[in-house]
Amino acid sequence: MKLLVVVGTNAPHSYNRFLAKYIAKANQAKADFEVKEVAGLLPFFKEGVANQGISDWRDAVAEADGIIITTPEYDHAIPAALKSALEWLGSHAGPNLMKLKPVCVLGASMGIQGASRAQEDIREILLSPDMSANVLPGNEVLIGHASAKFDSNTGELTDEATAKQINALVETFVKFVAQAHK
Ligand SMILES: Cc1cc2nc3c(=O)[nH]c(=O)nc-3n(C[C@H](O)[C@H](O)[C@H](O)COP(=O)(O)O)c2cc1C
Repeated sequence: MKLLVVVGTNAPHSYNRFLAKYIAKANQAKADFEVKEVAGLLPFFKEGVANQGISDWRDAVAEADGIIITTPEYDHAIPAALKSALEWLGSHAGPNLMKLKPVCVLGASMGIQGASRAQEDIREILLSPDMSANVLPGNEVLIGHASAKFDSNTGELTDEATAKQINALVETFVKFVAQAHK
């Protein structure tokens, strides 16, 4: 099973990137993980534009059996970089690659709320007609006070309770993806 772990930000230092890397490393026995950035090669969405970065991004999503997205919260929503990256996958950029694609979301923030509003925002986006993704229901993992849970320099996850919660979610998602592809 191939799972893409999408880092939902273009910030150079990001707890959600630490989270994505942790997921891929700690769960490597459960599936083949690839951590994927939305930063760098992707321009902001504009109909009619094409380049290698967009094709690579679309190919990576098309080839994945499931997608895990780690999202920060920017102004009670997902970051613009992530929104744009999702727009490159929908039906205005080519065939809709998200249709019935199993997706799982989680997020980390500096405050107490664990990117809760951004997670609600992305669930709604993923369920829009243009995306129609197969979003794992419930199973919310809200990682607040991220700077106390990850080592800010090494990116290592140091909080055992959070690790347990994340790994349980990944286990549930792996079953969800397997079921979806039966
Ligand atoms: C433009 C901007 C808007 C933000 N808005 C929120 C917000 O609405 N809610 C929140 O909890 N944190 C907010 N934050 C703080 C983020 O939670 C914090 O920067 C976090 O570290 C971002 O995730 P990252 O480390 O993966 O980049 C905001 C940060 C930025 C840069």
